[in-house]
Amino acid sequence: MTKIRAAITAIHGYVPEYVLTNAELETMVDTTDEWITTRTGIKERRILKGEGKGTSVMGAEAVKGLLEKRGISPDDVDLLICSTVTPDMKFPATANLISHKVGIKNAFSFDTNAACSGFIYSLVTAAQYVESGRYKKVVVVGADKMSSIVDYTDRQTCVIFGDGAAAVLLEPTTEEVGVMDHIFQSDGCGHVHLHMKAGGSAYPPTHENIDAREHYVYQEGQVVYKFAVKNMADVAAEIIQRNQIATEDVAWLVPHQANLRIIEATARRSGVPMEKVMINIQKFGNTTNATIPLCLWEWENQLKRGDNVILAAFGGGFTWGSILLKWAY
Ligand code: UT7
Repeated sequence: MTKIRAAITAIHGYVPEYVLTNAELETMVDTTDEWITTRTGIKERRILKGEGKGTSVMGAEAVKGLLEKRGISPDDVDLLICSTVTPDMKFPATANLISHKVGIKNAFSFDTNAACSGFIYSLVTAAQYVESGRYKKVVVVGADKMSSIVDYTDRQTCVIFGDGAAAVLLEPTTEEVGVMDHIFQSDGCGHVHLHMKAGGSAYPPTHENIDAREHYVYQEGQVVYKFAVKNMADVAAEIIQRNQIATEDVAWLVPHQANLRIIEATARRSGVPMEKVMINIQKFGNTTNATIPLCLWEWENQLKRGDNVILAAFGGGFTWGSILLKWAY
C-alpha cells in the first residue's frame, strides 16, 4: 500500500498591532535597549490589548486567513489542534473556542501543551491523524498571549516574551513531501527551572500566591539557556545526520525563537549557515507556541517544493525536538 504522508499545504499568521519596543520597556523596568539587543536579539514584540481578549482571538484570525488562502470552507476542516500555554480559560480548550469563532462545525478540536515545543509536537500529532487516512484537513495552531502571564516588574523575563499566533493546514499526499521524520524528548526535571507555579491544581489561586507573584512565568534564565543550547542544537544535528542530508542540502533551519544566541549556537552545531536560518525574534520576541509557524509564514514566499526544512524547539518541561519537513508547495 502506498504510504500516506501529511503535508503542509497552507500557512497563515497573525500578530496584534500594538508594538512594545525596548524603549518602552526601559520606562517600565531597569533595562536598556543595548542589554536586550545584545543578550537576546529582540528589538520589539507585539502585545494583544483589550479586555476579555485571549489567545483564541489571535488563533481565530490566523485560522480564518489560512482557510481563505487555501480556498476552503470551515465546514471542510476535520480536526483542529491548538498548542498553547496561555489558554483563554483552563477549560474549555482554546481549540474549541477558535473553532467556534471561525465557524468550524464538522470537526473535533483539542489543545496540547508542551510549552515552547508545543507546535512541533502538535504538528506530528496532527500528521498521525492524516497518515491514518481518515482525516483529510487538519489545522494546527500555535498561539500564545504571553503578556497575560509575564510579570512586567521582572526584567529578566518581561523583555523576552511577546504575543502571536500562526496556523498550518495539513493534508494527505502520497508523494515524498510533508512530515518526514521527527525526534522528540522531554525531561520533567526541568520544571524546577521554568514554570508558572500558581493557578493549577497543585497551587490553586489564592490572595497569597498572587501577592507572591506566583501566577507569572518563573524562569532561571541561565540554567534554561544552557539546556536549550545543548538540546536544541543536538537534536537538530541528529535529525540531519539520521536522514543522511548533507548540510548544504538543508534549505532552511527554523529554530524556536527564544534567544538569538541560542539560535546561532543551534545553527553552528548543525552546520547550517546563518543565511539559511529563519529569524524574526527581533520583531516578535519569544511567542512560545507561535515562533516556528510565524517564521514559516513570513518566509513562505521563499520556500520551494522539495526543500529540506528542519524545525527545532526547546521549552519548558523540559521538552525539545526536531522535525524534518520536505516542503510541499
Ligand atoms: O523559550 C523557552 C526557553 N527559554 C529560553 O530558552 C531562555 C533562555 N535564557 C535566556 O535567553 C537568557 O538566560 C536571558 C535572556 C533570560 C538572560 O540573559 P543572560 O545573558 O543569561 O543574563 P543573566 O541572567 O546571566 O544576567 C546577567 C546580568 C545580571 O546582572 P549581574 O548579576 O551580572 O549584575 C542580571 O541581573 O544581567 C542582568 N539582567 C538585566 N540587565 C538589564 C537580567 N535581565 C536584565 C535586563 N536588563 N532585562
